[in-house]
Amino acid sequence: MSEIVSSKKLTKIYPGRIKVKALEDFSISVMPGQIFGLLGQNGAGKTTFIKILLGITRLTEGSFSLFGSNEYNHLLKKNIGYLPENIQFPEVFTARQSLAALARFYEMEPSLIKKRTGELFELLGLEKIADRRAKTFSKGQNQRLGIARALLHDPDLIILDEPTDGIDPVGRKEIRTILQDLKSKGKTIFLNSHILSEVEMITDSVAILHKGKLLRTGTIHELTHENTHFEIKISRGLTLEEENSIVYLEKISEKLYRYNGSEVTELNRIIDKVRNLEILIEEITLRKSNLEELFIKTINADERVN
Ligand SMILES: Nc1ncnc2c1ncn2[C@@H]1O[C@H](COP(=O)(O)OP(=O)(O)OP(=O)(O)O)[C@@H](O)[C@H]1O
Ligand SMILES: [Mg+2]
Repeated sequence: MSEIVSSKKLTKIYPGRIKVKALEDFSISVMPGQIFGLLGQNGAGKTTFIKILLGITRLTEGSFSLFGSNEYNHLLKKNIGYLPENIQFPEVFTARQSLAALARFYEMEPSLIKKRTGELFELLGLEKIADRRAKTFSKGQNQRLGIARALLHDPDLIILDEPTDGIDPVGRKEIRTILQDLKSKGKTIFLNSHILSEVEMITDSVAILHKGKLLRTGTIHELTHENTHFEIKISRGLTLEEENSIVYLEKISEKLYRYNGSEVTELNRIIDKVRNLEILIEEITLRKSNLEELFIKTINADERVN
């Protein structure tokens, strides 16, 4: 299967009196049907990458492809839905008129426009305000309308720049469900986000971008399982001799030990040895880092090197 989005050694320098290198040798690939998260601090280069994909800004060096094609064309763009950051709608239009105008641009039939906009207003909880001017919308309502706009023409690739920005916790959960439903229909979703706990819940793969450079990429499982270990709390401390007799068991504190691995057979061997010493196991906890911990560790390690 070929990638839906890929970039190779992509570099972007914004020209001007003070040049800004927003991306440097940035290479990633997103497979069909994935939810992919691009993570990074403010100014890392996330929006720049999206803008390059969409032809809004030009790359300086390197290349990218969409749907396996290096050539940018009009038809391709029609198969992409996009939510920009801080989306703004025309002042004079109601929400319904805004979507209808865009639907006509996509050459959708009037009956389909009516059906599709109705469905999306319901999906995003906007039915009651659909005939109000979008400029009167709250931040979260505006954002919901932006998501409806990105989904309007039922595109196969959906690119969302901070989709849950300004949305309350209940709404965020609803959006997660919507994204998961889209994935189950075979859609590919590319999102930028700062909300790592949320990203961890829905994405298949992520890339960590820092000051324009790719630091890590992989599935959530690959990235968060690196530091997996078990903590074992026992009823009494081990003597030095006992400690030496149990390989792979490391002392943390008086009655707390650690097995640096996730191998269940090995864990049970350790438990057997401890139990043979007539010691009780009081607690066993599987510890793994979450995405936020991994993100901060990765960024800090890079800061120390550079
Ligand atoms: N038009 C521009 N001209 C000059 N520099 C720019 C331009 N647009 C962005 N930049 C700079 O490029 C870098 C990357 O910006 P970008 O908007 O891609 O970051 P981001 O990761 O999306 O950040 P945020 O999380 O705050 O949205 C920043 O240093 C920014 O100041
Ligand atoms: Mg941005």
